[in-house]
Amino acid sequence: MPGSDLLAVVLLGVCLLQTAGAQNEPQINGTREVILQTNDTSPVTLQCNLTDDNSSFSQSYWMKNGEEIPGTRQNNKSTEYKISKPRADESGQYQCVFSFSNRPSANLTIEVKAAPDITGHKRSENLNEGQTALMYCKSVGYPHPSWQWKKLNNGAPMEIPNITGRCFIESKDNYTELKIINLQIDEDPGVYQCNALNSIGEKSMTTILRVRSHLAPLWPFLGVLAEIIILVIIIVIYEKRKKPDEVPDDDEPAGPMKTNSTNNHKDKNLRQRNTN
Ligand SMILES: *[C@@H]1O[C@H](CO)[C@@H](O)[C@H](O)[C@H]1NC(C)=O
Ligand SMILES: *[C@@H]1O[C@H](CO)[C@@H](O)[C@H](O)[C@H]1NC(C)=O
Ligand SMILES: *[C@@H]1O[C@H](CO)[C@@H](O)[C@H](O)[C@H]1NC(C)=O
Ligand SMILES: *[C@@H]1O[C@H](CO)[C@@H](O)[C@H](O)[C@H]1NC(C)=O
Ligand SMILES: *[C@@H]1O[C@H](CO)[C@@H](O)[C@H](O)[C@H]1NC(C)=O
Ligand SMILES: *[C@@H]1O[C@H](CO)[C@@H](O)[C@H](O)[C@H]1NC(C)=O
Ligand SMILES: *[C@@H]1O[C@H](CO)[C@@H](O)[C@H](O)[C@H]1NC(C)=O
Ligand SMILES: *[C@@H]1O[C@H](CO)[C@@H](O)[C@H](O)[C@H]1NC(C)=O
Repeated sequence: MPGSDLLAVVLLGVCLLQTAGAQNEPQINGTREVILQTNDTSPVTLQCNLTDDNSSFSQSYWMKNGEEIPGTRQNNKSTEYKISKPRADESGQYQCVFSFSNRPSANLTIEVKAAPDITGHKRSENLNEGQTALMYCKSVGYPHPSWQWKKLNNGAPMEIPNITGRCFIESKDNYTELKIINLQIDEDPGVYQCNALNSIGEKSMTTILRVRSHLAPLWPFLGVLAEIIILVIIIVIYEKRKKPDEVPDDDEPAGPMKTNSTNNHKDKNLRQRNTN
């Protein structure tokens, strides 16, 4: 059965939250850490059990990344939260919280980890020399990744050449940005790669940077200009060649002119046949 390969949950630890000292402190027994596998979408269930049944327990609820998950409040000492479609964006810090009428609430933190996935980036950036390129990558996946930018050299990631000090990288949690100011046509074009790495895995995405010369925006205009010039030259040459024939024709009406020209053709044909 492929079930074992597809196991969604790797339960790394189920542990007893110990609150040393006071006899009557509430204790929570629950899931400690879960790793969501990249290609596995079978549901994952997080569990918390309040094991001290001598407390004035009133309610439990779930939190994700410090915010209450709506609709999870209930008054059962055993509580579950089901992640029905586990993906990287479902990873994060979960907490089950038990509140009491006569003491502060107790909670257990559950780390739901996943390899980073890059959910936002530019495929390409087309700019003129002198402008500023801004490339970015956004990720999901917990823990937040550490970020790196590389430039591909025949497909091989290399340190970004920063000889003239125009490259700036800024990264924060699930976002990173590469800025190249005063773009140079001979140094900067190429394929840039952002890489997100955390304890579970890594992911990379690339952005193609194209840099056009200052003159580039003028090319269409110059093209049209060239066309006009060529047209004018053709017309002038044509007019000049035509002129000696045309001057007498101008005085004649349109009808006879036609027959005249066909007659000319006939004459020519005849002459040609005669020579043959
Ligand atoms: C906590 O859970 C573990 C595994 O499910 C179990 O072995 C242990 O007895 C539980 N502890 C309490 C106090 O219920
Ligand atoms: C919590 O309690 C339920 C039953 O009440 C049990 O099936 C489950 O294994 C317990 N979970 C933990 C983590 O102790
Ligand atoms: C996930 O599946 C894709 C193809 O569907 C494969 O290329 C990739 O290596 C798999 N990743 C993992 C972590 O198994
Ligand atoms: C509940 O707490 C009371 C005092 O706070 C104590 O006397 C009693 O033994 C406790 N019961 C259990 C099951 O822990
Ligand atoms: C509390 O949870 C347990 C196990 O999850 C379940 O068997 C029981 O019916 C629940 N009780 C209430 C009142 O919801
Ligand atoms: C969780 O418990 C810690 C102490 O163990 C406390 O500082 C924190 O405020 C609690 N969080 C919530 C949401 O109750
Ligand atoms: C990125 O992290 C911030 C907090 O650090 C969060 O508010 C935001 O929703 C996250 N964005 C994504 C796409 O996960
Ligand atoms: C590139 O050089 C500038 C100036 O020395 C520096 O401020 C910047 O951090 C460097 N960027 C990278 C990516 O190393």
